Amino acid sequence: MISLNIEKTFGFISKEKVFAYEAEVKAAQEALENGTGLGNDFLGWLHLPSSISREHLEDLKATARTLSENCEVVVVAGIGGSYLGARAVIEALSNSFAWLQEKKSAPTILYAGHNISEDYLYELTEYLKDKKFGVINISKSGTTTETALAFRLLREQCERQRGKEMARKVIVAITDAKKGAARVTADKEGYKSFIIPDNVGGRFSVLTPVGLLPIAVAGFDIEKLVAGAAAMEKACGLDVPFAENPAAIYAATRNELYKSGKKIEILVNFSPKLHYVSEWWKQLYGESEGKEHKGIFPASVDFSTDLHSMGQWIQEGERTIYETVISVEKVNHSLTVPSDAENLDGLNFLAGKHVDEVNKMAELGTQLAHVDGGVPNMRISIPALNEECIGGLLYFFEKACGISGYLLGVNPFNQPGVEAYKKNMFALLNKPGYEEESKAIQARL
Ligand code: PA5
Repeated sequence: MISLNIEKTFGFISKEKVFAYEAEVKAAQEALENGTGLGNDFLGWLHLPSSISREHLEDLKATARTLSENCEVVVVAGIGGSYLGARAVIEALSNSFAWLQEKKSAPTILYAGHNISEDYLYELTEYLKDKKFGVINISKSGTTTETALAFRLLREQCERQRGKEMARKVIVAITDAKKGAARVTADKEGYKSFIIPDNVGGRFSVLTPVGLLPIAVAGFDIEKLVAGAAAMEKACGLDVPFAENPAAIYAATRNELYKSGKKIEILVNFSPKLHYVSEWWKQLYGESEGKEHKGIFPASVDFSTDLHSMGQWIQEGERTIYETVISVEKVNHSLTVPSDAENLDGLNFLAGKHVDEVNKMAELGTQLAHVDGGVPNMRISIPALNEECIGGLLYFFEKACGISGYLLGVNPFNQPGVEAYKKNMFALLNKPGYEEESKAIQARL
């Protein structure tokens, strides 16, 4: 189970002020539970962990087996909420060098549809040329340009390389029940498909097939992931007192920090495996809260790597930031520093110590230095990088995000701002139906 420590924010904001949010947080939680708040048609994520059925998990596992048995590589095509959750979990749990290993226990997972880079797509299709590959095409709307474009290329290549019949077996669609081009194609081609529930938005969809299928294909235990999330659903429930509810405390603390002038939250990790958890978290909070010209700006760093780059700014730059550290209590492997008779590098003071002990002292030293430098610090501790803990962490952040968005007074479940670039791009590309916009935008160039 995760634990949250906010003690190191108290030199900057007071405990009393954080606890003064109790009633407001309760109201936000009630609005989520009763569906009376903004964006209440997108609350399907709230009790998802405790309501996923065994049959559904079995169906996902069976589909994952079909893909694993028939593919060396599976490409996950999706963008934003349609890929970040899967990638966050897979990278957190995978061996850092899995893709280089000769003997693999699960297909290599690659990603596409999250950019429009011709070089990226060329290099991907080149790499796949001699591979037995499959595709999981993920798009709730079924019309997202980045994903649709990548899927067009991948589908054509898969059919050409593997034949229509095998392609039908190794292409899976995860999309809306009825709407969108991805649904039309899946139904026409007879692909196995899963539905993204109407009431679950992209960035809250990691515990739907959007996240669960790729995670299962990568060889991880989705039952444990869901169980970890379900335990956290309980731990952050409406009946849990404010002081004991980590999502409530996190939401209240970050809103109080924001009010005190701390406009940027930096999510910090000390393990590169958590890089994509931060990417997922940035989307979750950025898209949920950045509205009406307000909202904390979510940023992230990977320490100790970034202590040698962003560390300077964090220690001495503008004092508008605070840090939230994800601290992993226990590593999965053991490695100690060897003793060296010559000690030319002067490192014998570390001989016999675990590498993680050094990392933990870097973590503690950084926390104290940054607090001294004027940066409030929260710490989220998770026991280990495993399915249960990651499942719990993801749900914790989702629940806190819902509460936090309501405290801020915005609708955390829409994203009207992401349409502006699409409208311009379609106008510039002369998409049918955009004739007026095309004329108007050409006049501006
Ligand atoms: O959180 C969101 O709603 C977005 O990030 C979407 O997930 C993203 O834009 C992809 O949309 P779609 O799944 O419709 O392709």
